[in-house]
Amino acid sequence: MKYDVAGASFNVQIEGAGDPVLFVHGFPLSGKLWEHQVAAMRGSHRLIVPDLRGLGQSTLGSAPDMARYADDLAAILDQVKINGAVTLVGLSMGGYVAFEFFRRHPKRLKALVLADTRADADPPAKSAERETLAQKVLKEGSKVVADGMAKVLFHPECDPALKKEWHTIMAASPSEGVAAALRAMGKRADSTPTLKTIKLPTCIIVGDKDVITPPEVAKAMHEAIPNSKLQVIPKSGHMTPVEQPGAFNKVLKEFLKS
Ligand code: MLT
Repeated sequence: MKYDVAGASFNVQIEGAGDPVLFVHGFPLSGKLWEHQVAAMRGSHRLIVPDLRGLGQSTLGSAPDMARYADDLAAILDQVKINGAVTLVGLSMGGYVAFEFFRRHPKRLKALVLADTRADADPPAKSAERETLAQKVLKEGSKVVADGMAKVLFHPECDPALKKEWHTIMAASPSEGVAAALRAMGKRADSTPTLKTIKLPTCIIVGDKDVITPPEVAKAMHEAIPNSKLQVIPKSGHMTPVEQPGAFNKVLKEFLKS
């Protein structure tokens, strides 16, 4: 389905019926990240799976910050007529958006799943690196990001075909949206002070071999969020929903049932 929000056209997959679950992908990915969760849960839940502004098949409109990404999601929920609170499942950059969504639209949330993400902001050197990369992407295309990300996203023994598939997807991401996302991540707020204010049931998931947001980072979030549980997924890097879909789905379904 296509939805227009604040100057952009959003590609949103909507499936199933039941308690609503909003899936928010990471960088520089798309809603396809959640294909195994959609297949496993369309029989039991209402699933809302957008491509974020400027990524996948959603257009960029104007350059977003984290607040814009969060407000886009709230506007999409309005248009899909999801009036009750949702469980938001966010991976990595999707988690950065989830923190902003929590601050801006707390009444729309009933639970949080924070997968392979972190609460702190970029240190200045990392923000500067993102700006340099954004400029390179605008000149040379998204393949430069895909080449770098494909090396660090996956567990070292991950199926090469899966890596190749995601390299192709990332390289095809619209370069203006990729550059905009890099800049938005580089300027994001520190969400560490937010953690202790999250009173929602929260499930933190991390791959045991995630080098981008490692298990120690997930453990620190778990210790700071009062009503949270931590699940470490074995034999997985940063891409837990596609590297270990069976284990990810089991954790997610049990959490949603509880
Ligand atoms: C992501 O997976 O969304 C990114 O790796 C997050 C980041 O670069 O901080």
